[in-house]
Amino acid sequence: MRKINFNKGWSFTLQNSLDEFNVFGFAKYSDASGAPSRFYDYSNWETVDLPHDWALSLEKTHEANTFSGAYPNTPYHRFTREKHSNLETVYSIGWYRKQFPFLPEWAGKRVFIEFEGVFRDACVWVNGVYLDRHNSGYTSFAIELTDHLIAGVDNSIAVRVDCEQVEGWWYEGAGIYRNVHLLVGEPTYFKYNQTVIRTALDGSIDASAVLVNDTADTVEKIVFWRVIDTGGREVAQGEGTVSVDAYSDAPISAQLKIDEPHLWSVDTPYLYRLEVQTDGEMEAVRFGIRTVEFDPDRGFILNGFPVKVRGACVHQDFGGVGVALTDNLQYYKIRRLKEMGVNAYRCSHNAPSPVLLDACDELGMLVMDETRTFGTSPEAIRQLTDLIERDRNHPCVFIWSLGNEEFSVQNEAWSFRLMEKMTRIAKSLDPTRPVTYGGNNGDNFTGANGASEVRGINYIRNGANGDWLEEYHRNHPTQPIIGTEECSCVLSRGGAVNDLGRGLLDATGSVTMPWGETPKGWVKYTEERDYFAGNFMWTGFDYRGEPNPFYYENCISSFGIIDLCGMEKPPFYYYKAWWTDEPVLKLAPHWNHADGETVTVAVFTNCDEITLFLNGKKLETRRVERFDAPLFKVGFERGVLSVEGKRNGVVIRDELVTSGATDSVECVPVLEAADGDEVAIYEINAYDAHGNFCPTASDEILVEIENGQIVGVGNGDPSDMSYERKPVEESIKSVMHLNDENGTFPIPERVGNTRQMRCDWLELEPKGNGFEDDFRIVASYRVSGKPTLTKEMYATVRDVEGYEYIEFERLCGRAKIYLNGELVGENVRPRGRHARVMPRPYRFPCKFKAGDNQIKLVFTYAESDLPLVSGYVRIGKRIESPWSVKLHYGKARVFVKSETPQGVRLTVKVK
Ligand code: GAL
Repeated sequence: MRKINFNKGWSFTLQNSLDEFNVFGFAKYSDASGAPSRFYDYSNWETVDLPHDWALSLEKTHEANTFSGAYPNTPYHRFTREKHSNLETVYSIGWYRKQFPFLPEWAGKRVFIEFEGVFRDACVWVNGVYLDRHNSGYTSFAIELTDHLIAGVDNSIAVRVDCEQVEGWWYEGAGIYRNVHLLVGEPTYFKYNQTVIRTALDGSIDASAVLVNDTADTVEKIVFWRVIDTGGREVAQGEGTVSVDAYSDAPISAQLKIDEPHLWSVDTPYLYRLEVQTDGEMEAVRFGIRTVEFDPDRGFILNGFPVKVRGACVHQDFGGVGVALTDNLQYYKIRRLKEMGVNAYRCSHNAPSPVLLDACDELGMLVMDETRTFGTSPEAIRQLTDLIERDRNHPCVFIWSLGNEEFSVQNEAWSFRLMEKMTRIAKSLDPTRPVTYGGNNGDNFTGANGASEVRGINYIRNGANGDWLEEYHRNHPTQPIIGTEECSCVLSRGGAVNDLGRGLLDATGSVTMPWGETPKGWVKYTEERDYFAGNFMWTGFDYRGEPNPFYYENCISSFGIIDLCGMEKPPFYYYKAWWTDEPVLKLAPHWNHADGETVTVAVFTNCDEITLFLNGKKLETRRVERFDAPLFKVGFERGVLSVEGKRNGVVIRDELVTSGATDSVECVPVLEAADGDEVAIYEINAYDAHGNFCPTASDEILVEIENGQIVGVGNGDPSDMSYERKPVEESIKSVMHLNDENGTFPIPERVGNTRQMRCDWLELEPKGNGFEDDFRIVASYRVSGKPTLTKEMYATVRDVEGYEYIEFERLCGRAKIYLNGELVGENVRPRGRHARVMPRPYRFPCKFKAGDNQIKLVFTYAESDLPLVSGYVRIGKRIESPWSVKLHYGKARVFVKSETPQGVRLTVKVK
């Protein structure tokens, strides 16, 4: 099928669940009312491009759940599991709409829409026809549109997204936060996610697909298979015939062979492309040639050789964009992890974006691919099936994770049963990869752990007593073991002090949660045991939510070795030192202290020996043991603390310099965007008058942009409750009184969701029209009576020059609105069946002048319509204040989109 990007030009609105357009009905074909109706006027909705995460635009509040980032997009609370009584409004429902033409070349074709991920509970309509609902906020789905599209007119698509319920215990975002595509194919097409490739190291390939025949005749087709290498050369081909009955499908397969194949590995991620085609229809799938196995004594084996899994658990969100990462940000995150020596990514704890897997395929990163819902409920099985069917051709995926820390069942035989059945399902979809389960219950073998093909361990400290893992391995000698989660070290990017009372964490990585281990603790343990296949640190990046150990004060986690915005914390260099071959020497965290203070500094290095100097004076020389991270206690004295190290005879150095106060700030690009679909990252750094970096600066910085749009800002500070995305700012004034012929009456500032439907007008047709009854009802009800009356109301407002609109929460009857004698609008509704689709509130653009302005309303109404104005009356205008961001340990980042990325100019200055 042809894949057409469908991300641009959507309209979006966010509403409270009691609003009128959330009532739509499923009764008849193409008969939805409210927001999904074909004729709904959504011209006052915001225009957005996908991917889009609305949660980030909400104002953070401690009244909301800090475990999901402190955004009021869900009332759920991690601990109490009760609604937050303190939140007045929960912005959990978002509507998306888009108009699109039916292109002439689609005639006779089959058209699907594919959503890579919507958080969550997506209901989809096309042309007012309710199509389907997809609960999971993480799996991808495709829906066929063909029957419901109309040639010659604009077609409408509407998506209702509801994030009230959570699926995890972290920030999950809200909205259509991944890519959307239209898939257009022939009436005989390859079934969605059913093309499967299995490879062997000698280059043999088993390829299969399912051909759907959506026509009234049996078709005979010739199917061509070819494999293309990265240079575009055809390296294998095959051909076969297939007969598919009318309105049916049939499997097809081929055995192909590549001579002298290039293997896929972490260091050489070589990719091939399989093309399968028949009569104008083509399916292309990327794949790699590699084998994955687990051995109970040798650990993980890639292409026949043991590879220690040096992994990172990662949640999918990121600075500036929430969960709506553009494709280039997915690649950026993977490159950052690779720089630190990470070779495996655990999608904790949900199905990832397909783009993330593309990045891992291309860049050489193993993936533990994880389903969100444990168990064998229809929903859990659907999620597991969707995940495996979508991801099984990615060479990066080396293991499926079927669950994580299911506290209520993991110690019981109940979960053994569930795990067995999930394994059976996973194997039927993909017999080539092992499965695991992340259990944080030590040596328990009764539940899911006993049924795990590969034992997954969350936290080596979380077991029975002492070194229980050694004993577990002795007791279960045929079960391979991998660490699925480890570390849970909490650290800042630049701090020098641990003081939980003051919300402070240092940057050396010496503090862990009670169940965790420091980097050097777990790395040494893992690297020294061959049977232990490897491990995944919690976490590669900070993420919103789970602000341990500051449960209610903070809104972002502190677990990351890289912060939320992509800036590394010092132990990044610990991993780099022991997991890469590059010479590493890093002194941390900073050298700005009070005179006489005794300061702990850490050195992350793979040098054989290091010497510390203070202002040129030698302090100490130490040999560095493998996997160690030496700490030194040094009395503070202003100046330069430096370290010199030798690695294989070569000398390298690093230093920390005491800085003065911020004198200037500089902004440099750290990730460039190729086009308007990508996000660029700029980094702000503070310097003193001598050009030294200011490692403790926390100045507020004003940011201005030319030729682009700032999509978000961030500083990685887990306690920062200020915005990451600037809310649309408006100056709004309420009109407090209206006048009519009887005098002045007040208007409420906000009425809210009052419904004033009336069913009081019956029209009866007399006897004698061929019916037996005395009379019959020809109009069963109307919202109001016949509009025969008129009324004028007015208000005078002053000091509002430049205001741009007048808005009424609710108008009954038919109203004409005038400003200073000029008609600015009418609340005319479409007639007929779709009469109830005028969106509220009613907003009328107009221009207010200096001095007095007269607003006049002329109503035509029925007696039963009163009151005519119920709800607020406001006038408003958009205002632009500059973006600002506070530095955190001397740094902050700005996320930018632009149609002309080369022309972007950012100006930064201290506020
Ligand atoms: C684990 C859990 C993770 C995260 C982490 C925090 O037990 O699997 O999702 O909550 O703890 O340390």
